[in-house]
Amino acid sequence: MRIVMIGSGYVGLVSGACLADFGHHITCVDKSAAKIDALEAGEVPIFEPGLDTIIEHNRSSGRLDFSKDLSAPVAAADVVFIAVGTPSRRGDGHADLSYVYAAAREIAASVEGFTVVVTKSTVPVGTGDELERIFREEFPDKDIEVVSNPEFLREGAAISDFKRPDRIVLGTEEPRAIEVMREVYRPLYLNEAPLYFCERRTSELIKYAANAFLAMKITFINEIADLCEQIGADVQKVAKGIGMDKRIGDKFLHPGPGYGGSCFPKDTLALVKTAQDYDSPVRLIETTVAINDNRKRAMGRKVIAACDGSVRGKKIAVLGLTFKPNTDDMRDAPSITIVQALLDGGATVHVYDPEGMDAAKDLLGPVTYGSDAYEIAEGADAVVLITEWDQFRALDFKRLKGLVRTPVLVDLRNIYPTAEVTRHGFSYFAVGKKSEKN
Ligand code: UDX
Repeated sequence: MRIVMIGSGYVGLVSGACLADFGHHITCVDKSAAKIDALEAGEVPIFEPGLDTIIEHNRSSGRLDFSKDLSAPVAAADVVFIAVGTPSRRGDGHADLSYVYAAAREIAASVEGFTVVVTKSTVPVGTGDELERIFREEFPDKDIEVVSNPEFLREGAAISDFKRPDRIVLGTEEPRAIEVMREVYRPLYLNEAPLYFCERRTSELIKYAANAFLAMKITFINEIADLCEQIGADVQKVAKGIGMDKRIGDKFLHPGPGYGGSCFPKDTLALVKTAQDYDSPVRLIETTVAINDNRKRAMGRKVIAACDGSVRGKKIAVLGLTFKPNTDDMRDAPSITIVQALLDGGATVHVYDPEGMDAAKDLLGPVTYGSDAYEIAEGADAVVLITEWDQFRALDFKRLKGLVRTPVLVDLRNIYPTAEVTRHGFSYFAVGKKSEKN
């Protein structure tokens, strides 16, 4: 099939490249000339493991190409995906749909023959209906069906999530559109990935409900972690103990400094606003948002407490800035709040992250960017582990002990068993576990 992906960001590029890998012909379109020029020069503008290889393979096979202009590719397309950004609107937290509607009107103007227009971007419930109204009223001579097809890709695992999904959600009840979407996802269907067809509004809500539930699950274990610290229990063992119940499941029960990223913070807020608009508030998610925001600030206080209540005039080494490992994405990363709290407390902060430092430079205050964990640990009064990159999972504590001024490790991802750290003379502070001062 001939497919066009409008928006060559994180979702559009991964989805386009993977659909090309299925044998379809994909044109990824983006208004950013710089992005398209980079892609045509063989550079991939985002960090996603394996994406460069899959793009190169499909470009050289002639199944994947790029364009700044959508008119010609759309005219020849069977399916057009809208994968443009839907950021939180300034001030009120609703999703900003201006890019979606602009793309939709451009698409409709260029469409020839029966074409399925798919919302791949995360869009509020009812957006598909609005698109259908626009097409019907402003482009009455065009034969377009609108389908909702939300993505459930995790940054850093996006390609495997696309190729081995738990389900493919497709919001449409139109037989012609159902037929076309079966064809798009036939290769996955052969992998037994269930195609789940439902009404369009149901499909749009599934995306928000899924992300909100996952954000709530993380926030639940984060609160249990705080309780564990007070009553002397071990949250990792609590998580394991409850996770063995198949009704709960063992995923997304890792406590940490709070969730970040381009999705959970934005989608929870958008769901809260939508629910309030329909006078049916989702109070559990309202509370999840409030708890998570507060948690990031609380983590700053946790580090200060680990430094005997003050970081003034002290050097703090921060390992990891991105909102999670295997990404360069700093959006809503807890490190932004934590680092600011340390700077406000009078600390000198040195930071290192394998991929996120370029993006961090626009977001962090006056910190020093280092070259690796050991370099920034030199003379530090505390080492703070914020993002669980693999390269931070086997630190040489003997070497670190000889570098730091004060042996304190604050491990906000519970990477290390307490004894492994304390036996090297460090005081160890974690999340949901007893702290050990040396
Ligand atoms: C999420 C959803 O998982 C994905 O399905 C959706 O399409 C987009 O949003 P993503 O934001 O890329 O994906 O990352 P994810 O792995 O879900 O982590 C989100 C945040 O939760 C990160 O800050 C991560 O550190 C945190 N997290 C995750 C925890 O704190 N504990 C966990 O157990 C899991």
